[in-house]
Amino acid sequence: MKTPKRLLPLVEEGLIDEVISQLMSGKEATVYIVRCGDEICCAKVYKEANQRSFRKSASYQEGRRVKNSRQARAMEKGSRYGRKMQEEVWQNAEVDALYRLSAAGVRVPRPNICHEGVLLMELVVDADGNAAPRLNDVDLTEALALEYHEVLLREVVRMLCAGVVHGDLSEYNILVGVDGPVIIDLPQAIDAAGNNSAADMLERDVNNLRNFFAVFAPALQASQYSKEIWAHYKEGSLLPDVPLTGRVVLDERPADVDDVLLHVERALEEDALRRMSY
Ligand SMILES: Nc1ncnc2c1ncn2[C@@H]1O[C@H](COP(=O)(O)OP(=O)(O)O)[C@@H](O)[C@H]1O
Ligand SMILES: [Mg+2]
Repeated sequence: MKTPKRLLPLVEEGLIDEVISQLMSGKEATVYIVRCGDEICCAKVYKEANQRSFRKSASYQEGRRVKNSRQARAMEKGSRYGRKMQEEVWQNAEVDALYRLSAAGVRVPRPNICHEGVLLMELVVDADGNAAPRLNDVDLTEALALEYHEVLLREVVRMLCAGVVHGDLSEYNILVGVDGPVIIDLPQAIDAAGNNSAADMLERDVNNLRNFFAVFAPALQASQYSKEIWAHYKEGSLLPDVPLTGRVVLDERPADVDDVLLHVERALEEDALRRMSY
């Protein structure tokens, strides 16, 4: 196909040899299948800031490190340079997370490079070599649902062992590749140690998995993995193969009602934003 404008700089740099087809155009990015040498790759072109939806919300940005204080000041001021910096930090967050998670053994697309707002990475494929389907487009048996749930829960644990919470994990951001589920779409990935919303984000990610798979495997509906995983993380006892029961011991202390209400409010806000973005 004709090379889209946003991919021209990468073609000129020799990073991409040929644009084969457009795979997807979503709220946050447009994704192409490209050829790099003799490898078929995936090119994710990030939309400009003003065309994106919810993920720049403050709760995702917290704890995100910038390179230096000059950059931080510029970003706070919101000058043109500051906004450009903010864009770069945003765009690099995904490639950074992919490198970090690949190194930790999490099944994510192998990253290549992020250049001019385009992320080049491995194309996840199905058994026929075609772009892999999203989990929400796959028919599951109960046995397969149980198996994938377990695999993905372990991936969530592995990510947290590497200090990362996905923050937008759902059946839409998991591909079913030839060797099983692969987690994608990480520009909003958050730093578990530096972000006060990390426990909530983890809970939402884990509950999204549960709710999706419980349709095929109803026994999962009662499971409660997120608090158990977070408790291990806080205690420093989280390891990729830590035994998990899916049950939590009830906390009998009186509830902090204001805190609960705050959580409800936040959950409603985030839900409304998610609905807008799909
Ligand atoms: N590495 C990849 N391999 C195959 N398909 C991909 C890959 N990355 C993204 N896609 C496809 O592009 C779609 C959008 O990518 P995603 O990273 O989820 O961006 P968005 O922010 O637009 O949701 C995915 O749902 C998936 O179908
Ligand atoms: Mg996505």
